Amino acid sequence: MATISSDVLSLNGSTTKSIQEHVECVADDVLASFPNVEQLTAEERRGIIARYTAVLEGNFIYWMTGALLSVHSEEARTKILENLYEEVRDCHPGMLRRFALAAHALPTDTDATAVYRNLSNVRLFIGRLSPVPVLVMMAFFEGWIQRFMAYLAEAARRQGSTEMEYTDVHGVCDITHTQELFRALEAEMAIAHDSFGPATDLFEGVDLLQTLIRDIAANPES
Ligand SMILES: [Fe+2]
Repeated sequence: MATISSDVLSLNGSTTKSIQEHVECVADDVLASFPNVEQLTAEERRGIIARYTAVLEGNFIYWMTGALLSVHSEEARTKILENLYEEVRDCHPGMLRRFALAAHALPTDTDATAVYRNLSNVRLFIGRLSPVPVLVMMAFFEGWIQRFMAYLAEAARRQGSTEMEYTDVHGVCDITHTQELFRALEAEMAIAHDSFGPATDLFEGVDLLQTLIRDIAANPES
């Protein structure tokens, strides 16, 4: 999809700003693809929570680690390490498991199968360790997660759950954090300049990940 050619990468704030605008736009778009939470059946609510859990629980830290292995700038490393410390120290995978368990929505084989193909595509993309596209993908992911928490919490509440630690922790809109993340992206782009060819697709990871998120939204039965 959107390709920014190397000569456009004069790597000033305005390029980063246009990337930020694009990923925010995609995040809004993906969020809008989810069915109205008030109209979901119990099974549809369970499926969305379970597929979200199947994607995030075992992969978020892995992908963040892939981002850490990819980047070269000090700013990007610092920002990713901050995130990883929080994930591991506060055991976010455990927090997500408790959230899914309390909502009676632990992933089943069917849930794992529904996201398998597009999850594999994101894993393979991360494995290429391409610094800027990976960082852009993680920036998109964080922005989307933040936006999605109110929906996820409401789905769980309608499942009879009161266990909201996961959605409370991840739903905070931290503007400073977002600014730092995009500053880290800017620093990384400045370093990675030479490795950009005219066909470098900065949004390849964003596209693969948004396809995967649409699997979370869609009921595989319908
Ligand atoms: Fe987390």
